[in-house]
Amino acid sequence: MARIVGSISTSHIPAIGGAIARKAQQEPYWKPFFDGYPPVQEWLESARPDVVVIIHNDHGLNFFLDKMPTFAVGTAAEYQTADEGWGIPALAPAPGNQDLAWHMVESLVADEFDITTCQEALIDHAVSLPLALLWPEHNARGEWPVQIVPVCINTVQAPYPSAARCYQLGQAIRRAVESWESDARVLIIGSGGLSHQLDGERAGFINKAFDTQFMQSMVDDPEWVTQYSNDELVELTGTQGIELLMWVAARGAMPEAVHQLHANYHVPISNTATGLLVLAPR
Ligand code: DHB
Ligand code: FE
Repeated sequence: MARIVGSISTSHIPAIGGAIARKAQQEPYWKPFFDGYPPVQEWLESARPDVVVIIHNDHGLNFFLDKMPTFAVGTAAEYQTADEGWGIPALAPAPGNQDLAWHMVESLVADEFDITTCQEALIDHAVSLPLALLWPEHNARGEWPVQIVPVCINTVQAPYPSAARCYQLGQAIRRAVESWESDARVLIIGSGGLSHQLDGERAGFINKAFDTQFMQSMVDDPEWVTQYSNDELVELTGTQGIELLMWVAARGAMPEAVHQLHANYHVPISNTATGLLVLAPR
């Protein structure tokens, strides 16, 4: 059966794409952010994942207000990167693992998660930028060393699924991966920001105390966050801070007992508190 080698949760911010294109990683503004990634790149060389289940939120690229699935799984052979208006350069298309994708669709529906299946999908900065941050040399060559299965959680149009439900989705993803007949090594990525609000009266809102407690809870008390409703989470973390649901689902896909391999937290990049957390099964 397939094996989950670990999880990486990371912020995704469109401006990262511009910084990579400009080779600005060592500029004082960007250095504390990019310095978080080399230890993870090193770990990936020994973890050697073949497939990445990447849990992300769309930003109005694939799904718009007229059709908004709560949970969606991509089953495409390939995903082109596209930009919903930030002006960031397109990156290499990501190959899909269709065998795992269809197995996950079967397993999740049997597990009572009535997901939307996407045989075609584009990927935005929430998928392409984590790949670029984790595999910069492959990005420079215009290829990726892994295949992906994208899992999308709606954070664009209310109502959003609760943190408890996203945690359960993660647990169902784990059951799906671990029942996939394959000797593949599977990495889980949760792609979403911590506290941030891009517009409105509280634009620029950041809650470092909450983010710090949330990151620690992901290691040793993963259901801590499920005490909060989504309205409370938006109050605590800003309107786009609700993207932390991606971290919650990624954590659900890991065994209960994990250990922290690496963490980084830096404020601000753009309007966002950036977080990075790497967990391995204990
Ligand atoms: C920003 C953060 C995001 O998560 C996003 O999707 C778009 C923009 C930002 O802080 O600029
Ligand atoms: Fe986002």
